[in-house]
Amino acid sequence: MAFQLPDLPYAKDALAPHMSAETLEYHHGKHHRAYVNKTNELVQNDSQLSGASLLQVVKDAKRTANNKLFNNSAQLWNHSFFWQCLAPSQGQQPSGKLAKLIEDGFGNAEAMLQKLHEEAVNHFASGWAWLVLDRGALRITSLHDADTPIVHEGMVPLFTLDVWEHAYYIDYRNERPKFATAVLQNIVNWDFVGENLDGTGLERANQQGAEAAVTA
Ligand SMILES: [Fe+2]
Repeated sequence: MAFQLPDLPYAKDALAPHMSAETLEYHHGKHHRAYVNKTNELVQNDSQLSGASLLQVVKDAKRTANNKLFNNSAQLWNHSFFWQCLAPSQGQQPSGKLAKLIEDGFGNAEAMLQKLHEEAVNHFASGWAWLVLDRGALRITSLHDADTPIVHEGMVPLFTLDVWEHAYYIDYRNERPKFATAVLQNIVNWDFVGENLDGTGLERANQQGAEAAVTA
């Protein structure tokens, strides 16, 4: 089976009003799907990548400077991770080990979210704001375009916020700060963020690729 568009882990209208069903219709149903389709098309033309996992494809594309494949496959993974970082608004807060790391690194959750908001808003043009684990401590950073923690040492991914315009234009027009506030204050899946402290976050958005078709 070729790479698939992963289902959203919630109903399309479950994140409203912070993220509308229409945004998810386009962002997941069209943008994310386009990255899946393009990745499959490019992998099909490369017998070396037959059966490779998504993580392997991203790393290989980086190593061989295959920018087209890197951009599409990294975006496939980034979005697969991003949807899991969100959850319907239920007053959720960081807890357990994550809450302790937040306290150690930033004082409290509000201060950490403020920093994440600044990073997201000040990131120039398209990209992703990240909360990562780096040598046992939390770190906030951002990456440009399709760039991804998969190809960066010392970036154990915990949470990401998509700051491409396609993430917020329907609901917030050009107002990225409003979008970042709405997401960070209301619909972060802190349980998922906390789970990723186990260091296997990369695998949570991974999938297996297709074996080459056997031709007689
Ligand atoms: Fe996106």
